[in-house]
Amino acid sequence: MNDLLCRAPIGMFDSGVGGISVLREAVRQLPHERFIFFGDTKNAPYGTKTREEVLALSRAVVETLLQKGCKAIVIACNTATSAAAAALRAEYEDIPIIAMEPALKPASLLHRDGVVLALATPGTIAGEKYAHLYALYGDGVASLPCGGLMEFAERGELDSPALRAYLSDLFRPYAGQKVEAVVLGCTHYVFLKRAIGRFFPGTPLIDGNEGTVRQLGRRLAEKNLLAPEDQAGDVTLLSSGGEEPVRLMERLLALPNE
Ligand code: DGL
Repeated sequence: MNDLLCRAPIGMFDSGVGGISVLREAVRQLPHERFIFFGDTKNAPYGTKTREEVLALSRAVVETLLQKGCKAIVIACNTATSAAAAALRAEYEDIPIIAMEPALKPASLLHRDGVVLALATPGTIAGEKYAHLYALYGDGVASLPCGGLMEFAERGELDSPALRAYLSDLFRPYAGQKVEAVVLGCTHYVFLKRAIGRFFPGTPLIDGNEGTVRQLGRRLAEKNLLAPEDQAGDVTLLSSGGEEPVRLMERLLALPNE
């Protein structure tokens, strides 16, 4: 029974393609696992919806993934974590639910006398979870709600004049300041790393993907749910938006992590 459960897939979801950056890391760290990734493209973006809307959407996706027999769920989305992780954990007590948060904690270690820029969706920044994190690690942090930024990744537009113009407006207030770190607090932004990094040469851009996947490994190990080493891992990509987003997900999954 337990062997069968260990071989079951891990369900992972995001509002769209951003969570593929988490999946890429998960495949690297946990090569024997089978993953089912669901991008809720039809309902994206989550980051400009109310908490209640995001909770309802997230719940529906989790139901879909559990119907496919998933042994654990990864919320590969900071916005859905903020809106829904606590409620979903209470509703699905028996299923390990791994979630993520903007990497303010590791970024705070780099703070001296400059500024740390934290980029996330408006929903994440307005949420209670972020307020809590900020109270602990927000010293020197400027929070930048980035409505409209995830859409570039959703279009597969990872570098373009329009993206550069968006970022240039976003970062203008910090020109001339010492930026010590940039937190990529939305999984979509990881795919925009190169374009963002160009504004801050030599500055660390920090995302929470590695830590989230390490946490996934720990939770599976604790519950004796790690896939056996004789299992060849694989990935199934699904989207509520049809085939086109799945093609983009495939392309993004194949990109090297820079
Ligand atoms: N990828 C999501 C996150 O990590 C949010 C994108 C959105 O739907 O607004 O926050």
